[in-house]
Amino acid sequence: MTNPDTPRRNFYGRTHGKTLRASQKTYLAEDLDRLRLCGVSREDNPDRAPLDLATAFPGTGPLWLEVGFGGGEHMVHMAARNPGIRLIGCEPFVNGIAMLLGKIRAAGVTNLAIHPADVRELFDVLPDACLSRVFLNYPDPWPKARHHRRRFVNPDYLLPLARVTAPGAEFRVATDIPDYVRQTLEEVPPAGFTLERQAGPGEAWDDWISTRYEQKALREGREPHYLTFRRNG
Ligand SMILES: C[S@@+](CC[C@H](N)C(=O)[O-])C[C@H]1O[C@@H](n2cnc3c(N)ncnc32)[C@H](O)[C@@H]1O
Repeated sequence: MTNPDTPRRNFYGRTHGKTLRASQKTYLAEDLDRLRLCGVSREDNPDRAPLDLATAFPGTGPLWLEVGFGGGEHMVHMAARNPGIRLIGCEPFVNGIAMLLGKIRAAGVTNLAIHPADVRELFDVLPDACLSRVFLNYPDPWPKARHHRRRFVNPDYLLPLARVTAPGAEFRVATDIPDYVRQTLEEVPPAGFTLERQAGPGEAWDDWISTRYEQKALREGREPHYLTFRRNG
């Protein structure tokens, strides 16, 4: 299932942005170690052994994942609305992680864990079929055709995602880029998912909260698209 020879992959996004505020530095120093999912990074787990979830993220509730949580508003909203679930968030951008930590303090939610890096590291070590819901909100659009292979919706990400999602699991994708919708509709079904719902502006999921990136897209005149897939099997 996992392979210590798994190559290190290129990550093309940003990991650092504007200088952090003093409060954000405090959140990172005081809270991240406690919330970080142990056993995922190569430093913690050089052999890439399968993660023992009972130790890494104890609990009996369904396990959900948010890929690229940005400022964390959707992640904290979902954790607060669904106290019985356990939600893992992946995000390599340190300013976003600091924003999430501030929101966790304010909301007082405890059913969250963070992998502060590339989601592919998590896919390497997650047990088969452990996730029952996955959120991909406004993934990086990579608009140039020669960069489309960097998009999340290609087999390098989708086949590992399929391995770690349970039969019947829900996979939600929100994007403001029509060509991203095209690629999602082309690439996600062959990876083992069935399209259940395709919706447009004003038709988000009932429990949706608009994210920072969606707000920016709306200000700039781009329309949201909301796609829901179900894992086959
Ligand atoms: C356009 S932003 C959207 C952020 C947030 N979901 C929102 O809607 O506001 C895309 C995010 O995905 C993150 N990201 C990109 N590649 C990733 C990867 N391989 N693993 C985890 N996160 C990733 C980026 O760092 C960035 O914060």
